[in-house]
Amino acid sequence: MKKQIILSVLLAIVSASSSESYRILGIFPFQSRSHQMLFDGIVKGLVRKGHQIDLVTVYPMKKSIPNYKVVVNLQNITESLVNKWNVKFASELGDDTLPIIALQYGNGLCEYLGLPELQKIIKNPPRNPPYDLVIVESFGANCFIGLGHVLKVPVVMASSTIDLPWLSEALGQPDNIAFFPAFFTSYSHPMTFLQRVHNTIVNHMNHHRFRRYIEDVQNAQMKKYLSPDIPPLWELEKNVVLALVNSFHSLNGIRPLTPGIIEVAGLHVHENYVELPQELAKWMNESTAGVVYFTLGSMVNIETFPDVTIRAFYSTFKKIAPVRVLMKVGNKENLLPGLPDNVMISSWIPQVAILAHKNTKVFITHGGLMSSQESLTFGVPIIGIPLFGDQFTNVEFFMKKNMALMLNVKSLTEESIHGALKKILKNPEYKKAAKYHSKRFLDRPLSAMDTAIYWIEYAIRNGPGALRSPAIDMAWWQVALLDVYAFLMLTFITISYLILVVLNFCLKILKLKSSYQRPKYD
Ligand SMILES: *[C@@H]1O[C@H](CO)[C@@H](O)[C@H](O)[C@H]1NC(C)=O
Ligand SMILES: *[C@@H]1O[C@H](CO)[C@@H](O)[C@H](O)[C@H]1NC(C)=O
Repeated sequence: MKKQIILSVLLAIVSASSSESYRILGIFPFQSRSHQMLFDGIVKGLVRKGHQIDLVTVYPMKKSIPNYKVVVNLQNITESLVNKWNVKFASELGDDTLPIIALQYGNGLCEYLGLPELQKIIKNPPRNPPYDLVIVESFGANCFIGLGHVLKVPVVMASSTIDLPWLSEALGQPDNIAFFPAFFTSYSHPMTFLQRVHNTIVNHMNHHRFRRYIEDVQNAQMKKYLSPDIPPLWELEKNVVLALVNSFHSLNGIRPLTPGIIEVAGLHVHENYVELPQELAKWMNESTAGVVYFTLGSMVNIETFPDVTIRAFYSTFKKIAPVRVLMKVGNKENLLPGLPDNVMISSWIPQVAILAHKNTKVFITHGGLMSSQESLTFGVPIIGIPLFGDQFTNVEFFMKKNMALMLNVKSLTEESIHGALKKILKNPEYKKAAKYHSKRFLDRPLSAMDTAIYWIEYAIRNGPGALRSPAIDMAWWQVALLDVYAFLMLTFITISYLILVVLNFCLKILKLKSSYQRPKYD
């Protein structure tokens, strides 16, 4: 008897503690390294919190950590799949990234649903313990939301960009296109009347185009790989509990947010902190006159600039001595000779630790979202040389905050580079603004990481529907009250018309009367 009681008490304790720890399936199939930084951060945070994570990923973590398991390693198959889709859709590419997102990184990646490892989970989901939640990367491959349906668990989306139009739509997040530029136009507030017209048209067209590209294809993929009677995508999307998005109001601007959109910008920063190697730490410590940190991200190598540009950089860097320069160079053997003495180069630099170092004065960057958030976190002013995608918009955001200058990559000269460097190194206003905006970026009730973890657990506790906006079940023109305004306008016009008719009628009668009475006076 006693034994039984002890046993049941023990069982109760075990189940109580296990109900706090969840098993989560994470699907992050997109092969962009910088996109993965955010998801890596979330995964690390969840594991630390004691949750068990099964991952579908292109970038498994190097170290093995308890509670972290890669169930589908996409490392070796990604290229081949992507190449296949590349050829087919190459003709549709160009400046406009929406077709790539929808086709190559949407429909293309959805084919992974057919991978044997994933089919095993779909046909025979783990029971010990079962999954409590699916976290799906939000980019183009919405089909993975269907996993929530077959595993009968809630779904959370995670976006390493700001919420894309189709994610906003799924969660009933208003577009706010009057003052919040659509994702695919690079306007910034305030927009002129014509820009707002264009912003509105582009926004509606992109909703429509994205749906046209993915809806039929991904519905068919879900039917084939998940379940023949799975509901259509637009219906499954409505059951997504919430979305973690890589924005924050102090950075991206103020807008009304539905509670299902959770802003977690900056979450990746501390998770990517790597100690400086001894030698570099010493060099940084000794650079008391300040350091300019120069990199164009992991994809672009500085040494591939034309010789004339490299020479312009060299002579500028020489001029700013004793300030030193730390520069990322992918292949040292390709670098033009003549590097000034105050420049240190390396093929790999622990960026977060450099930006966090007190001697770092300026960050010359391509303006990638992750890099610029790191710079903002530590209050380092920016010289942006944007190259593609959202980098122009990112740098513009920081220029508006008076903590950045922009250089045109096509017209880099000694004068332009030196002018920008001199301005930022000499004028303390840039540093002051950067420090101020860093504070505002970090001033939150919960850190970005704690926010993400809290809301992921919330999604498990409360399930689909908890944060569902009523807007999801209405047509966009109903949400925008277009029907109501049209009705009011019509009513106004009708009543005005009726009044006019009546007035006209009265006038006629008066005239008739007067003409009838006129003879009396004759
Ligand atoms: C991927 O390919 C590399 C090199 O071909 C190989 O060493 C590695 O084991 C492969 N990984 C997986 C998960 O198959
Ligand atoms: C650099 O300076 C920091 C802070 O003053 C110190 O903790 C660290 O030990 C120094 N590192 C080296 C290699 O000099």
